[in-house]
Amino acid sequence: MATDFTEETAADAVIESFAKTPDPRLRELLDSLVRHLHAFVKDTEPTIAEWEQAIEFLTATGQKCDDERQEFILLSDVLGVSMLVETINNRTGGATESTVLGPFHVVKSPRRELGETIDFVGTGTPCVVRGRVLSADGTPLPGAELDVWQANEQGFYDVQQPDVQPRANGRGLFTAGADGAFWFRTIVPIFYPIPTDGPVGTLLNATKRHPYRPAHIHFIVTASGHRALTTHIFVAGSEYLESDAVFAVKKSLIKDFIGVDDPAQAAEFGLTGPFSLATFDIVLDPAVPS
Ligand code: BEZ
Ligand code: FE
Repeated sequence: MATDFTEETAADAVIESFAKTPDPRLRELLDSLVRHLHAFVKDTEPTIAEWEQAIEFLTATGQKCDDERQEFILLSDVLGVSMLVETINNRTGGATESTVLGPFHVVKSPRRELGETIDFVGTGTPCVVRGRVLSADGTPLPGAELDVWQANEQGFYDVQQPDVQPRANGRGLFTAGADGAFWFRTIVPIFYPIPTDGPVGTLLNATKRHPYRPAHIHFIVTASGHRALTTHIFVAGSEYLESDAVFAVKKSLIKDFIGVDDPAQAAEFGLTGPFSLATFDIVLDPAVPS
């Protein structure tokens, strides 16, 4: 190891200090982290005051975290890192594309029957979401489970408004039928802001970025022998599709929510008036044998 610290030898000296790391992957990660971190510092030459500000920002980010709030994930989200990790880990051939989980998933949504509603307020535009869950070769996947969650028509999840929305409003766990088909009733979601009352909000403010996510419905889809899929459908035409605060939009996930004003079709879905109809066929990759 070098005995004399210089700007030129610093990165190599730190990398060498990790040379005896027994876990090769940990060593690879640390080597690359040090190399990129040192390159960043040499590139930007921060002042001591700037470096202290960065430490304060990261400290505040940690202090904002608790059992319900994960400000570091939110930071990763707005830097596009969550989506990059998600996408790298879900390279697919023909399967449905994945996107971020987000902070509003709860461990278990209530189990509901196909066709049931997940809206327990009744003030939004009624909507039916339907589709099929299929394997990559087109085989239907009966028994696939779909965990679904969404914000209300004002852009809030139930957990953000415990005194306003009924518990588990906007949530449901459905099981696909014999032909892999599923359907449920809900309301058309709207765009909403990610939480801005912490350091991530300060960062967005300082950089003149808006905090909004385009309207979407979340899904986690699982089926025996297949890779689980975490994804959304986005409402075509929603504001912020072009500038999602967390970079989570993939074109293949944008779906038309088609207005239907036909009493016969409404009756088929147990509705009495106009509604929107979205169709989302979900393709899962077979699990890779380990
Ligand atoms: C969400 O869609 O629920 C979400 C995703 C990332 C950050 C904040 C919210
Ligand atoms: Fe969301």
